[in-house]
Amino acid sequence: MPDYIFMLESRLSPEQLQALNQVQQEAQELSLNLYLVGGAVRDLMTGSPIRDLDFVVEGNPLRLAKRLESRGVRRFAVDPDHRTAELLLTDGVSLSVEMSRNEFYQSPGKPAQVSPASILEDLRRRDFTVNAMGISLTPGSRGLLLDPTNGLADIESRELRVLHNYSFVHDPLRLLRLVRFSTRLGFHPEPRTKELFDAALERDFQYHIPLDALGREVAQVAGEENSVAALKALADYELLEVVHPLLQKRKPDYDGLAKLQKYCQQAAAAGYRLDTVGLVLHYIVQRLKPRLQKQLLSKLGLRKAELKQVLGLDKEARRWVKLLGRRRSMGPRQVYQVLDAAAVEMLVFILAEYSDKKKVQAKIYNFLFKYRPMRQRLPVRELQLMGIQPGPKFDQILEKYFEAQLDGRFRSRPQQLRYLRMLAGLPKTSTKPVKKEKEKEKEKDKKPAAGPASAETKQPPAAPAKLAPEAASLGTKQAPKPPAPPSAPPAKAPGKNVPAPPAKPARVPSRRSAKKLKKKSHRR
Ligand code: CTP
Repeated sequence: MPDYIFMLESRLSPEQLQALNQVQQEAQELSLNLYLVGGAVRDLMTGSPIRDLDFVVEGNPLRLAKRLESRGVRRFAVDPDHRTAELLLTDGVSLSVEMSRNEFYQSPGKPAQVSPASILEDLRRRDFTVNAMGISLTPGSRGLLLDPTNGLADIESRELRVLHNYSFVHDPLRLLRLVRFSTRLGFHPEPRTKELFDAALERDFQYHIPLDALGREVAQVAGEENSVAALKALADYELLEVVHPLLQKRKPDYDGLAKLQKYCQQAAAAGYRLDTVGLVLHYIVQRLKPRLQKQLLSKLGLRKAELKQVLGLDKEARRWVKLLGRRRSMGPRQVYQVLDAAAVEMLVFILAEYSDKKKVQAKIYNFLFKYRPMRQRLPVRELQLMGIQPGPKFDQILEKYFEAQLDGRFRSRPQQLRYLRMLAGLPKTSTKPVKKEKEKEKEKDKKPAAGPASAETKQPPAAPAKLAPEAASLGTKQAPKPPAPPSAPPAKAPGKNVPAPPAKPARVPSRRSAKKLKKKSHRR
């Protein structure tokens, strides 16, 4: 039997793993049976990136939520009636804890009555078999896979299968979810599920999706890596009609969105964590008249500030383009200074929207893919090894070093280190590469036997007391490391002026805020 705990430990990000351990420990102290369920288990089995952690407890999860809150976890949505809580850890991990429950539906799209139930009953009330698996995190059965509807087999055959004939009738949001998961995972609905799906559409159940649930689902679609594919698939089933009839007719701006996706992928590959939901929403409503855009977005539940940001994207982008275009002779230092104030999402948006403005593009490209990564790789460790203690002086040195780097003052690694030593107030050391033996011999032959010492030998010796051996060998190191991979947080330098994490906080509605109450749709 596979070791699912080992799989989890190797697949979760360090932050997610820490969150999982923390929840486990607290649940254990409260003697609650705890399970990881839903998307995280599906993603673990399919090998996809694990996004959020959804936990179920047999008992009252609000006790667990409170306990976690007292340990500094932020709670951003609680539903005491359904005993569910959405939590957010300081390092961006979002998780939910829910009561293991059963749901009873009276009519399509209407809130379900819930009652406490065993974990197996809870798994059996879910949407698709691939989403109906759990892993026990309870001592005694820790690591046990609960798969009452054989989701693993469906993962193997790449199929989406509803758990009962009334799945779409009870919760028509699942019609949209099926389309979204099909495009994301490349899974197909198995024949019976497809029949039920078609029958539900024929009977117009899709028009029974509550508005708040619809809004959250649209935000989910906007958060998909390939939102173009998800939107096109929805349009194929005429499901954009549910969002707005004119959207089905005029369609989202797929070309604009595809361009955006391309740049988002580039940025993600360089280590930026973007929240592009707001940008994607812009392209979704782009072809509608401005008044309708506003109406639709507020109907979908965007708050005033979010609405303003989505609708103001074009204007904001124009402002940046003007600023960058006006100052033609901007050097790297100025480019960095100016663009450091922009949200990375905005810069990606400008790349997608203004591909004809080559100079603007070049500045943004340099900022995102050259200067910011450069800042991520400031020689923090080298400076520490030179004996400089973190503090204001340390920060100042790094700042000056960064400016020199932006000015293009270094051609080689030894040069960089000499400059760093100079900034640190340390005496020079020879970092010239050792000449090949033959050349040395030649030079020896040319030189008189006991000539005057060369300029090099006149240099005072390196400060051995302060310079650790590791630092001394740094002079021969090659190019700096590439930017951290997307999942790894960038190494932070100490002090407030040293590298900031790559992605600025999103200025547009986030996937997190979209997810905030999303589960209510099936919890009602
Ligand atoms: N669920 C359900 N019916 C719904 C919505 C959700 O049965 N209408 C169940 C599924 O078991 C799902 C889980 O709740 O896996 C969590 O839902 P959600 O977080 O919305 O989706 P995930 O499956 O986690 O997928 P994603 O990767 O998009 O977050």
